Amino acid sequence: MTQDRVIIFDTTLRDGEQSPGASMTKDEKLRIAKALEKLRVDVIEAGFAISSPGDFAAVKSIADTIKDSTVCSLARAVDADIDRAAEALVNANSGRIHTFIATSPIHMQHKLRMQPEQVIEQAVHAIKRARNLCADVEFSCEDGGRSEIDFLCRIIERAIDAGARTINIPDTVGYAIPHQFADTIRQVIERVPNADKAIFSVHCHNDLGLAVANSLAAITAGARQVECTINGLGERAGNASLEEIVMAIKTRQDVLGVRTDVVTEHILSTSRLVSSITGFAVQPNKAIVGANAFAHESGIHQDGVLKHRETYEIMSAESVGWHANRLSLGKLSGRNAFRTRLQELGIELADQDELNAAFARFKELADKKHEIFDEDLQALVSDTVTDVDERVRLTYLDVTSRTGEVPVAKVVIEVEGVSREATASGSGPVDAVFRALEGIAGLGATLQLYSVNAITEGTDSQGEVTVRMEKSGRIVNGNGADTDIVIASAKAYINALNLMYSGVARAHPQIEGI
Ligand code: KIV
Ligand code: ZN
Repeated sequence: MTQDRVIIFDTTLRDGEQSPGASMTKDEKLRIAKALEKLRVDVIEAGFAISSPGDFAAVKSIADTIKDSTVCSLARAVDADIDRAAEALVNANSGRIHTFIATSPIHMQHKLRMQPEQVIEQAVHAIKRARNLCADVEFSCEDGGRSEIDFLCRIIERAIDAGARTINIPDTVGYAIPHQFADTIRQVIERVPNADKAIFSVHCHNDLGLAVANSLAAITAGARQVECTINGLGERAGNASLEEIVMAIKTRQDVLGVRTDVVTEHILSTSRLVSSITGFAVQPNKAIVGANAFAHESGIHQDGVLKHRETYEIMSAESVGWHANRLSLGKLSGRNAFRTRLQELGIELADQDELNAAFARFKELADKKHEIFDEDLQALVSDTVTDVDERVRLTYLDVTSRTGEVPVAKVVIEVEGVSREATASGSGPVDAVFRALEGIAGLGATLQLYSVNAITEGTDSQGEVTVRMEKSGRIVNGNGADTDIVIASAKAYINALNLMYSGVARAHPQIEGI
């Protein structure tokens, strides 16, 4: 067992994607996977290959591309899932099948309707099958946090004998309390006779706000893999947040005595990427990556930090990527400087056409905004690089908004080259624009979320808008950015329309348990 290194297993693309509304397209997942590889996470759980053709394609394209991290697919403990996971991982440089079955009395009795002995046999069968297809197999005891310790020890011993090399004990429903969870992990490691042949892992959900605390407690008890997500994304209240775990390990090495290989300077850019792709804004007071995480407001604190940074800062903002070259480019910057900065930010454009389109957008933005920051470039590229055909394009927008009058919007769009226009009123300018667009599109989708986020400081900041739409179980997140938030909103709405038309959207990836 690795003594001093904690394996960072990122499940943003699988459990994170199970956040209602956070589903991502294949290309978006690949972009995040590349950022995770650059962050040097050890394992990327890329998806749940059998859950849909789209998820299979995403896992496969990540497995085909990523070289430095292990790429993993989730699979229930059933043959079809395991075979599909193996198929998606066939070209992986380093692939892992992660198979699971529930082990708590409540899940076995009411969900699986199986006897404990049957559960053990099914797990053993699944692990053996997975081991025949892939050298690296992880086994999870779903709802481990509410499972009986004797049963956990029995099934884990058999799982290790069957060939699982990582044993994961998830707190699936976020029920655990740190000292009690640590005790469970410690007991399992002590009592399972072949525990030395596996790495013990934890996967904590945040229903009581304890996911990070429980994960750290488990590390003190011997866990050497932590499953976590960027920004704490995940089912319900989310998973343990990667940035908090990694920075706690780094900052409190004196207490925890372990390390990770994560390149912490890339944390902020990865957080921003995930937030802009999913449309889940990061709250300002979020540890590590929130806008206020390193902002000192009180005079006493500011004075202290100026005199000696460590008086009020336990880690440096730069160590997680804040302020590093924030001021990026300006109006006079040329194509080469633009391309170089994108490369430094790890943003890859597919070809010259994409570079040209992004550069044209950059010039437009530089005309409106004096200073262009890295965050602007990231938003600009997210806006330009899209894996959908632009069937619908915005050509004209006119909105009137006056005190005491009802706002009115006139929009002109091109739908497959044909110009269409509509005028509508609404309770506000954005509402009027959306009504006008829906008047033309007639899609009948439900608007599930509308969010605006200022990308940088100052009133000349670009607004980044996310529009989440749902129709017949399909959910899409449309994004748009502009210094004019009404235009950004129209762009986001149109992006969502294009995603709906293209079929890139997909339903919530989770499928029923066995
Ligand atoms: O929360 C959970 O139990 C899971 C497992 C599939 C690992 O996500
Ligand atoms: Zn989970």
